[in-house]
Amino acid sequence: MSNTLDTAKRQQFLPVPLVLLCLTKQLPVDVYWRSHSGADPVLLRGHNIEVADDEFPKLLASGVETVYIPRDQGEVFQKHLQDNVSNILSDTDIPIDQRMSFLNTTGRTMLKEVFRSDNLDKTLESVALLSEHMTTLISGNEVVASELLEVLNHDYHTYTHSYNVASYSMLLAQELGFRDEDELTRISMGGLLHDLGKLRIPNAILTKKERLTDAEWQTIQKHPTDGFTALAERDDLTFDQLMMVYQHHEKLDGSGYPVGIDGDEISVLARICTVVDIFEALTSNRPYRNPNSTREALDILDQLAPDKLDGDMVKCWKAIMQK
Ligand SMILES: [Fe+2]
Ligand SMILES: [Fe+2]
Repeated sequence: MSNTLDTAKRQQFLPVPLVLLCLTKQLPVDVYWRSHSGADPVLLRGHNIEVADDEFPKLLASGVETVYIPRDQGEVFQKHLQDNVSNILSDTDIPIDQRMSFLNTTGRTMLKEVFRSDNLDKTLESVALLSEHMTTLISGNEVVASELLEVLNHDYHTYTHSYNVASYSMLLAQELGFRDEDELTRISMGGLLHDLGKLRIPNAILTKKERLTDAEWQTIQKHPTDGFTALAERDDLTFDQLMMVYQHHEKLDGSGYPVGIDGDEISVLARICTVVDIFEALTSNRPYRNPNSTREALDILDQLAPDKLDGDMVKCWKAIMQK
């Protein structure tokens, strides 16, 4: 009986990473915390009460990572965060790692929601906004890749993978000499969309531990074409962005899919996407294998270049990762 009550009580609250609260001054929601796991949440701060600058950072430093807000205030909280994203990201008083962590949480939440919605207009609107935020943060600051890697999640979800690939694509493009902010925003947007075609693949296939059957492998190989087909007629995407979606599994020696084109036929942005896509997949947790270390993943990229992957891009990505 008490278990049922606990569960019911727990369902009334939404866990929230405390780091998010450190960034906004006054909160329109009540904040609760638990002194130890299993304890009932108790009120820490009522809504709209001014919080001292150091209060939440101190709590964070003491080891508290999660606080709770009433579930029925979840939407208000989400809106509050979204309204404040630009201000938070450009606030140089907030350490860059905290801002990166904030964008990671906000961005993954946005992607998770729109990818689930199956609404293309809403998806495009959100990824356009999110990639602008990424440009503000990544191209506007000296972002160190190792710090970025640390704040990112490394699970197998497509929204996490897409967020990471977009951040990495932007870093690599920047290092390769892309300077125009609009172009960098378009690149990160292409990264956010590159696996759009995967959203319709059943999870059972994406997370299957056993060897894939031929039919399942064919289903997986369709995702670049499916994504491209869904997006091809939109007038708010460029040709190069579409190529990030369509060509990110092609290889320079023609051994990739869906078409098997080679060399210069593969667009530059697609090649950028390919390098970081493989790196991301290798270094993330998958249900069927443990992640590779950064070192191991870079070695694998090295073996694939220059036959399958662009050698200069791999060199550049290694330089970024070893900074
Ligand atoms: Fe893919
Ligand atoms: Fe991918």
